[in-house]
Amino acid sequence: MALKNRRRWWRILVGSLTIAGIGFSVLHYWVDPYNPGFLKFTTLTNLHIILGIIYLVLAPFQFLSIARPGWMKYHRWVGRLLLSFALIVGVTAFIMAIVIPFSGLIESIIVSFFSLIFIWSIIQGFITIRAKKVALHREWMIRAFSLGIGIASSRLIFLPVYFSLINPTLKDIKILFITCFTLAFSLHLIFAELWIRKTRLKKARG
Ligand code: HEM
Repeated sequence: MALKNRRRWWRILVGSLTIAGIGFSVLHYWVDPYNPGFLKFTTLTNLHIILGIIYLVLAPFQFLSIARPGWMKYHRWVGRLLLSFALIVGVTAFIMAIVIPFSGLIESIIVSFFSLIFIWSIIQGFITIRAKKVALHREWMIRAFSLGIGIASSRLIFLPVYFSLINPTLKDIKILFITCFTLAFSLHLIFAELWIRKTRLKKARG
């Protein structure tokens, strides 16, 4: 498949996952929380979810706006806002994973690992653009965004398996939850790296 065609399919896939991620996140406010910790730490949870939703809504336009003449000012201002929001999303994810892990210690270990990669990508995205290393900035932003939409894939894997289980125990659900999270976030990191390598800007990476 030609690169141009492949790019189109990737855009459709990423766009659908972004919309699904936003949808699943909004749904949080409609259904009873599966994790009682969300009710105990409402500010932490709300900060994570609301800023996460804003990040998912606006981040795709950051990737689209760089190719549009005259949009650089928009890209810069929204970019500053999104980097700060994403940093809070990453830090709150880390705290939630440590303080109220639904699946226990294993979740604390796995999710703190992924949230640190997310935070690291955001910080690197900031450092590289301050140093005017545009190609590297793009790569770090792809890594961060790919992890951000991991929430959609983890739910899309979780739900069909959950509904196919007969009388699952709470322990089964906790194991399934963290397995789906790990699978989804690992796949998202791998695909982000493959995409970055495939589309790496040919000019110097500075
Ligand atoms: C950037 C966009 C993100 C959005 C919109 C988002 C959204 C959400 C939502 C809605 C929940 C509540 C779960 C539910 O009710 O279904 C949640 C929980 C959580 N998220 Fe995120 N999230 C994002 C990014 C991340 C990232 C990057 C990580 C870590 C790598 C992360 C880690 C967590 C953790 C640990 C929980 C609590 C899970 C538990 O119940 O134990 N999130 N997130």
